[in-house]
Amino acid sequence: MKTQLLIPAAGMGLRLGCEGPKALIDLAGKSMLVRTLERLAPLGLLCDAVIMTPPHWNGVFADTLSLAFPDVPMSIAQGGAQRQDSVRLGLALLDPETEIVVIHDAARPFVALDSVQASIEAAEACGAATVAIPSVDTVLHADANDYLIDTPDRRFLWLCQTPQTFRVAVIRAAHAHAARDGYTGTDDATLVRRTGAPVRLVTGSPTNIKITTPADLAWAAYLIRQGHDG
Ligand code: C5P
Repeated sequence: MKTQLLIPAAGMGLRLGCEGPKALIDLAGKSMLVRTLERLAPLGLLCDAVIMTPPHWNGVFADTLSLAFPDVPMSIAQGGAQRQDSVRLGLALLDPETEIVVIHDAARPFVALDSVQASIEAAEACGAATVAIPSVDTVLHADANDYLIDTPDRRFLWLCQTPQTFRVAVIRAAHAHAARDGYTGTDDATLVRRTGAPVRLVTGSPTNIKITTPADLAWAAYLIRQGHDG
């Protein structure tokens, strides 16, 4: 099935304390976005990838990508205010013949290729899949005043990662459903589940971190030194 990569990379690095787009932050000599794409390159997913960028940064992203991947055609387009908006706008740019879309955060440069592949196979089989890892911690559900409400059974709790991989028709329907409801989520698999459709969980790896805070940058530098890059 024709498979396309969609990379939400339109976030600004506010929680990292940087002025510009988070995807362009330097990780040991390369931007986070370039590291993430290099990571995915062996799967043959870079050609025709759709990259969502913050407003006014299109040119800088285009220069960065044409330098790093001179012969690889990609689409670079402006994202939206929330991640969900960026993904919805990106879905509209997929090739008409694309059947599977792999949505992967620019902020996760250490994803394991076998989990990406497993997510594609699961999406082909059941329509929707997300990479995730079983929670090793007990997770507390609290109220707005920091009082414990309840403690869900840890055996059934997973921590969400990306990629999240879908049949295109399934994820487009889920975004349309969320837009009708005025629902905003922090991932795409949840939008599919809200429609009642199944979502398969595929086991990821603890090193597939989302770089969010300055502490994550130190962790990323360590992983690169250990040879976890590309
Ligand atoms: O902010 P957070 O790290 O959770 O964002 C996850 C991913 O979504 C990042 O790769 C970020 O660039 C992207 N994003 C986006 N559009 C937004 C906000 C975040 O594409 N408006």
